[in-house]
Amino acid sequence: MRRLALRTKQKAKKRNANKRAESIDGNMVAAYHSIGVGTQPNHLHRPYVSSIKRSPTRPLVKIPYTLSEITGPSFDPKLVSAADCDLTRQHEAHPLGERIVVSGRVLDENSRPLSNTLVEIWQANAAGRYQHEVDQHDAPLDPNFTGAGRAVTDSEGRYRFVTVRPGEYPWRNHHNAWRPAHIHFSLFGPAFATRLVTQMYFPGDQLLPFDPIFNSTADEKARRRLISVFDWETTMPEHALGYRFDLILRGRNATPMEK
Ligand SMILES: [Fe+2]
Repeated sequence: MRRLALRTKQKAKKRNANKRAESIDGNMVAAYHSIGVGTQPNHLHRPYVSSIKRSPTRPLVKIPYTLSEITGPSFDPKLVSAADCDLTRQHEAHPLGERIVVSGRVLDENSRPLSNTLVEIWQANAAGRYQHEVDQHDAPLDPNFTGAGRAVTDSEGRYRFVTVRPGEYPWRNHHNAWRPAHIHFSLFGPAFATRLVTQMYFPGDQLLPFDPIFNSTADEKARRRLISVFDWETTMPEHALGYRFDLILRGRNATPMEK
């Protein structure tokens, strides 16, 4: 009886898997699990003022996967130099601020590592200023900090950056608006459909409850996926604190995308 129940369960599982698969040029391609309600940011989140103009006003059109969505560029780890993933060694002297190590793994929705994934980051310097002409915040630029880096994941899906902890900065979303410390991430997974652009935050940041961008993801558990964890394993004695930030591309536990 128990064996029969198990067989029935397995058949149902296979049926569901087939339902999620689509035929593309004769090849069956597994589709991603659908996401839970509120686990990705709402297109329209009124407290985040820019989303009012940016959000679609009509229902979204579902586009079936084709080769264009399930394939993507492939990245060779040799494309990236040591300086690309160490933002503290891109200039003649070291930048000001607290050195940190940010590392983690890039995984698919079934916790399988995604190797050869391009991970790009950009961030403000320790004073909360981007080296970008649009950023006119009255905080000092650091001639020894550009704030951009890139890495390619290894066979276990791991990446690692050395950088400085970014400063909080004001923005004009509302009166007295301040962004929590964050690092921007952009990832190319194995397909264009696995592209992810998001932001990593730091544990215990007092500004998180007040940040409309962080809070545009309604589901608390999904929102917490955006917060890195302090990590003794990668903390370097007398050099830098370690933060771990794992990312999941697509599917039911996907890291929320920045909208
Ligand atoms: Fe930012």
